[in-house]
Amino acid sequence: MVAQRIEGKQISDEIRSELIHKTAELAKQGVVPGLAVVLVGEDRASQVYVASKAKACEQLGFYSEVHRLEASTTQEQLLALIDKLNNQSNIHGILVQLPLPSHIEEKAVIDAIDVKKDVDGFHPISVGNLVIGDDSLLPCTPAGVIELIKRSGNTIAGKHAVVIGRSNIVGKPVSMLLLREHATVTICHSRTANMEAIAQTADILVVAIGKPQAIGASFVKPGAIVIDVGINRLEDGKLVGDVDYEDVLDTAGFITPVPGGVGPMTITMLLANTLKAAEQANR
Ligand code: GUN
Repeated sequence: MVAQRIEGKQISDEIRSELIHKTAELAKQGVVPGLAVVLVGEDRASQVYVASKAKACEQLGFYSEVHRLEASTTQEQLLALIDKLNNQSNIHGILVQLPLPSHIEEKAVIDAIDVKKDVDGFHPISVGNLVIGDDSLLPCTPAGVIELIKRSGNTIAGKHAVVIGRSNIVGKPVSMLLLREHATVTICHSRTANMEAIAQTADILVVAIGKPQAIGASFVKPGAIVIDVGINRLEDGKLVGDVDYEDVLDTAGFITPVPGGVGPMTITMLLANTLKAAEQANR
């Protein structure tokens, strides 16, 4: 049987139309969600991400401001900007694009963001709330993974979810979210023994390792839901995931393509977080 494609673009559009509706409701109370995006340096990929975040805000009727700072910006200057944004009432979400230049300590910057405006969900208090199960702003890509599974008609409770990858940005938080959704969760990583055998027992397989097409059909249980978080550019310019899509297609029950799977969800969940932060600030 050929796996059903989980259409990230379509699900993302569906969520965005819900957000437009909620934004209009909030506008009646005189509140416009506001997002500040901070970019330090000239990283090409980051410039593209930042531009698409600003454009997405515009499409939903959000206020946004982009702060493009020179690569030579000091940590003190960046922290001063964050302090200003923390105190700016028309800004509900602050996102500092990563990676930062090496002379700036990432942790000091993330820690400085007001947790109520932490739309990336990277602040230690946000991470703690995620683990405890308290209401908080959830990291965007992991939250998008959960939406893709649910909105493609699948349930999570009681399933065995195997997450390959243990990064702070994806592997760890997506594992916690799956646990919150009552899955039985196994986390695999570069030192895991018998990874293939473990992956074969997964009803839900989430892959986030940053290795092009590393996971083939031998890792997949027939009928499994396969979520590919990887985005890798091959030498010929082609974009591929961490999963070998063509190889897995006849084994999986559901699969996300790359591009067009998890990718479109990340910015959508950022918008959802910004709206949520604006709603909470208005209470
Ligand atoms: N760089 C690549 N992805 C992300 C992300 O989700 N958030 C931030 N802040 N920087 C990134």
